[in-house]
This record gives sequence, C-alpha cells and structure tokens, in this order.
Amino acid sequence: MKGVILAGGTGSRLLPLTRLMNKHLLPVGNYPMVCYGIDRLRRGGITDILLVISKQSAGLYTDFLGSGASFGVSLTYKIQEAAGGIAEALDLAEGFISPGERFVVLLGDNLFLDDLTPYVDSFLKQSEGTAKVLLTPVEDARRYGVPVFDDKDPSWIAYIEEKPKRPKTNYCVTGIYMYDSDVFDIIRRIAPSGRGELEITDVNNLYAADRKLSYDVLKEWWSDAGTFQSLREAGEKLKDTL
Ligand code: DAU
Repeated sequence: MKGVILAGGTGSRLLPLTRLMNKHLLPVGNYPMVCYGIDRLRRGGITDILLVISKQSAGLYTDFLGSGASFGVSLTYKIQEAAGGIAEALDLAEGFISPGERFVVLLGDNLFLDDLTPYVDSFLKQSEGTAKVLLTPVEDARRYGVPVFDDKDPSWIAYIEEKPKRPKTNYCVTGIYMYDSDVFDIIRRIAPSGRGELEITDVNNLYAADRKLSYDVLKEWWSDAGTFQSLREAGEKLKDTL
C-alpha cells in the first residue's frame, strides 16, 4: 500500500512564521511537522510515500528528507503550483497510484498517535470503489468537516458539512482518508467551491451519497497544527515520540 501526504497550501493562520517557510516544516517538538505523518505511515507498514509540496521551501524538504532513506521510507515529490484546495493537491497523486490500487492520504498538518494498521486492515476488507475517513470527537466542531450518520445504517456517513455554524454531531472528519484509484474520477466530477478551491469534503460527499463512505473513530490524541496554540500543544505532546 502507498501513502500520500498533502503538504501544500499557504498556512495563512500561522503568519508571519509561514512567510519564512512552509507550514509543514515548522518545528513540532524536535522535528519538522511533516516528519510525524511520515513516521505514522512507516509504522503502519507504508513506506512508498508521495509528498505533495508547494513551491515555497521545496529545496528545504529535499535538504532535510532527501530520498527518505534515513527515515526508513522512499519519498517521491510533486509540486502543487498554487493552493487550489486539498482535492486539487490529491489529484496530483494520480500518476503515483496504479489503477485499482488502494492508498492512505494524510493532511500534512494532522498530527496523531493512533497506529494506522487496524484502520487500514478494515479498509482493505471494504469493497472496491468505497472510501474510509477517520473521525475524532472535538470540543468545537465548527472548525472542521463534520459527519452526519446514515439513519438506517449508522456505520456509514450520510454526508459531511464543512465548517457548519451549527454542527449536527461533535465529531470532526480528520485529515486521514483512504481511497482507491476511483477517487481521481470522483475529483473530476467536482467543481471549485465558493472560495475557489477543490474541496475534499465535496469528494467525500460523492462517496457518501452512494453509501460508500465508511469511518472509524480514533482512539488516541489527534490535532491539526494549523494555529499557534495547537502548534505549541502538539510540540509538547509529541516531543519524545520520534
Ligand atoms: O484537519 C482536518 C480538516 O482539514 C477537516 O476536518 C476538513 O474537512 C478539511 O477541509 C480540512 O480543513 P482545513 O481548513 O483545516 O484545511 P486547510 O486548508 O488548513 O488544509 C489542511 C492541509 O491540507 C494543509 O496542511 C496542507 C493541505 N493542503 C491544503 C490546501 C488548501 C494542500 O496540500 N493544498 C491545498 O491547496
């Protein structure tokens, strides 16, 4: 199985630091943020990894990570020219994933402690053309994609609302996604949102509409390190984990 880490985007909530370097290279504990996603994939047995990065700091990624060998993985790099959305970044993985192949996607700012293995194993048992997302309970769901469960069979997601004013559940859809190569056809069916981006939630909602979006709930700590406060907290939590 392959892994894809999406580390493009602008990191505007972390200005002025992100004027200096891309968000995913900022220090979390003793390592740049991106290293934690690489480590989670490696521990889950996924060592063939595509890193989608922005033009900003591209050289710093290769300076630090190189081929990935010293981290026990093999890295391929792709550049997302401008921050056109998470689904646009994911679309760049099309040549890296073979037809029919399944893979795991991580958003580069999602930091977590769960072992991915049981979730990947359960995804591998799902039928072809389905997808899985991982959820976690949060205090303020308004900042995230929020799932609403299928009335008839709550083991499936009925739809996801992106950053709703009045969340219908207290779960967040984390940036840990599992797809097969069908996802690239799904991305071709969506259009840019009001903010001009190809939204991952629109992709996931096309799966959900066909009752093809399953989920599991993380058991351990999770954070998206997109703000100064969460960056500081993540540094404390993860400082001795690599
Ligand atoms: O963290 C979980 C949340 O991530 C989900 O609950 C939301 O449904 C999902 O839309 C996303 O929301 P954010 O507002 O946090 O996304 P953000 O724009 O901060 O991007 C998250 C990561 O995705 C970022 O670390 C890098 C990557 N990204 C983002 C964009 C917009 C790219 O690689 N390219 C992009 O163009």
